[in-house]
Amino acid sequence: MSLTQDELKAKVGRAAVAYVEPGTVVGVGTGSTAAHFIAGLAAMSEPVAGAVSSSEESTRLLREAGIPVLDANEVERLDVYVDGADEVDPRGYLLKGGGGALTREKITAALADTFVCVVDSSKEVDVLGDFGLPVEVVPMAAGAITRRFAAGLLGTAGEARLRRGEDGEPYVTDNGQHILDVHGLAIADPLAFEDEVNSWPGVVTVGVFAHQKATVALVGDASGVRTITY
Ligand code: 5RP
Repeated sequence: MSLTQDELKAKVGRAAVAYVEPGTVVGVGTGSTAAHFIAGLAAMSEPVAGAVSSSEESTRLLREAGIPVLDANEVERLDVYVDGADEVDPRGYLLKGGGGALTREKITAALADTFVCVVDSSKEVDVLGDFGLPVEVVPMAAGAITRRFAAGLLGTAGEARLRRGEDGEPYVTDNGQHILDVHGLAIADPLAFEDEVNSWPGVVTVGVFAHQKATVALVGDASGVRTITY
């Protein structure tokens, strides 16, 4: 019997707990796969000391699970950060931000020595971009950034659309900013792409995680959990 996507997410989310030492502070991502990881943390027989959270939503789940949440400024570094992704390429470069938490995710990932990325196999791609690239922007820069993506960079171009909530209003991030989802890109050189988009005025965070790529991916598929080390 084949597993559902959520069952695969649960498998990898739970498997990531093996990378966490009891008594340490762990970095926690955002999304449905990260939520399974939080459930796994809550079930540890010897608990973690606490977590640095990448979103208001994960903070809520951590607190519900009785796990202390620390401000990122209270830690110098983390051993491990665990998070999902919207796409992972063969080099461990990631596209993230489907849940809108990309800025705090990148900040938390950058504090960690090891980034354990937890995905079901539908997230594996040869080239990043098909999902639609989330870019958190300062609202007054959205028009200029939209035109830059349309004009193209590094051999690719895309159509940026302002993300909206269910009420039709612009989606507002935990940091009070907006998100552009850029469609039609094929990101051949994630490091150069991330550097270029980061240099545009008004970009808060681009959802390409090349400098903060995965150290290891746990990929769930019909045969179980595959571990890929980059
Ligand atoms: C949130 C993210 C998530 O990690 C990404 O969207 C994957 O989510 P899910 O585990 O629910 O498929 O980047 O900003």
